[in-house]
Amino acid sequence: MQGNSVGITDTIFRDAHQSLLATRLQTKDMIEITELMDSVGYHSLEVWGGATFDSCMRYLDEDPWERLRTLRKRLPNTKLQMLLRGQNILGYRQYPDDVVEKFVAKSIENGIDIIRTFDALNDTRNLEKSIEATKKYGGHAQGTIVYTVSPVHTIDKFVDVAKRLQKIGSDSIAIKDMAGLLTPQMSKRLVERLKKDLDLPVQLHTHYTSGMASMTYWTGIEAGADVVDTALSPLSMGTSQPPTESLVAALAETDRSSGLDLELLAEASKKFKEVLEGYEKPSSNVDTTVLVSQIPGGMLSNLHSQLKSQKMGDRYPEIVEEVPRVRRDMGYPPLVTPMSQIVGVQALLNVVTGQRYGVKSKEIKEYVAGNYGRPPEPIDEEVRSMLVEEGEILDGRPADFLEPGLEQARNAIQEWMMQEEDVLSYALFPEVAKRFFKSRKQKQGAAR
Ligand code: CO
Repeated sequence: MQGNSVGITDTIFRDAHQSLLATRLQTKDMIEITELMDSVGYHSLEVWGGATFDSCMRYLDEDPWERLRTLRKRLPNTKLQMLLRGQNILGYRQYPDDVVEKFVAKSIENGIDIIRTFDALNDTRNLEKSIEATKKYGGHAQGTIVYTVSPVHTIDKFVDVAKRLQKIGSDSIAIKDMAGLLTPQMSKRLVERLKKDLDLPVQLHTHYTSGMASMTYWTGIEAGADVVDTALSPLSMGTSQPPTESLVAALAETDRSSGLDLELLAEASKKFKEVLEGYEKPSSNVDTTVLVSQIPGGMLSNLHSQLKSQKMGDRYPEIVEEVPRVRRDMGYPPLVTPMSQIVGVQALLNVVTGQRYGVKSKEIKEYVAGNYGRPPEPIDEEVRSMLVEEGEILDGRPADFLEPGLEQARNAIQEWMMQEEDVLSYALFPEVAKRFFKSRKQKQGAAR
């Protein structure tokens, strides 16, 4: 193995608990180990974005911005990283450019260094604004290839996406394998091509779901990957990332040692295990069915619990068969937020109503109308005609058709607003934010 030392991004404060603890890790528990984590020497810590923003307000009665400021203060020596859904920001629909720009500006102002931005359809037009804004406000813009497996997704296609990401200003490239489907051989071939055809650092992100992740990192690192995402062992494996300590130990005997201090990591692990005693025990099990179904684990468990709550748990096997069919009809979108929800809900409707596309969600109609961007492949013509008229299909970058959103959000929250960032919280999640603002105001009234 030759090359520079491998950088490690630890996901314990974001993806790891999003994957294993339903995004419920509280800030007060994170700060139990921030001092230790800050001394490890990570390439970065992923601490924000993804589902954490919504979860803070919706379930934890926490201000996500306050969490970011707290972590920034307690991690003065470590780069902080976030995951952004491009033009979907941290929500599930397209937002106008003024909201995207302001959100990026405020993320950086409150402490983020690296913004990994992705689009569920790999439509790079949906990443232009967030990448441009990241650079404008002094952040590192990491463009993302969303990895998926389908008859139409080839290495050449992924490399094309990466080239476009480079062209629109990405400072580095992430390969995001949310379902754990990237095999060691594909990892090697894809990283080799990216390193050959582009002049940018490459970071690998996968999940342990199928049990291949450590092998996938190893071959990717041999092929020249610069940084990989792992999780400190107490929240590793299962649907999370491979354990940090194991990879650090394995690499230590190569020319590409990460240089991280195993003893410090062990100490942080030990302390964090105590913190986790207050939470439900995370599962480190692998689920190899994803290798056959190609449906991400989180999506399967969501569908299963939706069915169970409607007393239709026995229909689950039919849904598992319907998901790939809907995905094919839709032009093979990668099953990542928001596409995983859109495809999942439609598959569910198709099965429980007994009529394919007889009942259709608002979101799938918008997707077919082009409001989320360009599908990887054209949508099945017959299905398309059941969902929208041909004349309704939007051709162009979706956000170009949206009215600015900041002023409206600002006007709507006048009585609750306590910081500029509240405008953004509301623009993304109006209902949830309002409930949070109310509770915040009550608490302050009580404290006075
Ligand atoms: Co992930």
